[in-house]
Amino acid sequence: MAKHRRRDRKFRLALTAVITAAAFVPVVAAAMPSTGARPNIVGGTEASTSSYPFAVYLTDKSGNQFCGGVIVSATAVATAAHCANAVKRADLRVVAGRTDKRTNDGKTVSVREVWVPDSFSDPGKGDDVAVLKLAQSLPYRPVELPSDDSLYAEGTQATVLGWGRTSDGGPRSDVLRKAEVPLLSDSGCRASYSNYDSRSMVCAGYPDGKIDACQGDSGGPLVVGGTLIGLVSWGDGCAQAGKPGVYTRVLTYVNEIRREAESSRLVFW
Ligand code: ARG
Repeated sequence: MAKHRRRDRKFRLALTAVITAAAFVPVVAAAMPSTGARPNIVGGTEASTSSYPFAVYLTDKSGNQFCGGVIVSATAVATAAHCANAVKRADLRVVAGRTDKRTNDGKTVSVREVWVPDSFSDPGKGDDVAVLKLAQSLPYRPVELPSDDSLYAEGTQATVLGWGRTSDGGPRSDVLRKAEVPLLSDSGCRASYSNYDSRSMVCAGYPDGKIDACQGDSGGPLVVGGTLIGLVSWGDGCAQAGKPGVYTRVLTYVNEIRREAESSRLVFW
């Protein structure tokens, strides 16, 4: 409930103020997030899972968010392979319908099976994609998958979503954030990264940086409208000039994602 959340936040702020005042730390105000213009993903704005119901995050069994993900069917979530491999399957949790990590909104489900391509070894070599088959179904609208490369044209404005770091080396966000980034051409991306692979990757970002995904956003969606074109995969730092974000090129894996989502449904029922 929004009301409860606000009250909860006020309470926390009050508590923080009391504790810090008691400890005679005069710089409290500087350490507290100003409620107005906090930075985001890096350089984005707050977003809500009511507008982006397919956006989910992954946690370990103690509830620590470490990656993003995206609902592709009621019982399947796509993410990055390096995210799926980061925690053992039994400890993986998918949190859906929760804009703010500090709340209990939405639904948390465990993972029954993980699909990662055999060819995956390292995000910098490509194939950084995974499908998590869920133990229960999620009552949220799945993302659309692309049917051709029309959404991959250079300059297309795409939206990246996540709960990751709001600055290079900075803290992760409590609230879902989004940013708009333009897609690069293959040659544009190869100019930044010699290991760029146009089959398995796509790049997005501005020449002078400033707006980008960052650590903790991995596995999360890059969308154009309601269609998933990328998954946050890697980059050199975050939001640096000449270092765009690199995303898994979802179009290359649509058949596999559909097949795995379908097998998830069959086994589930
Ligand atoms: N590998 C990071 C993660 O695990 C994502 C990095 C994305 N970096 C970027 N500059 N877009 O969360």
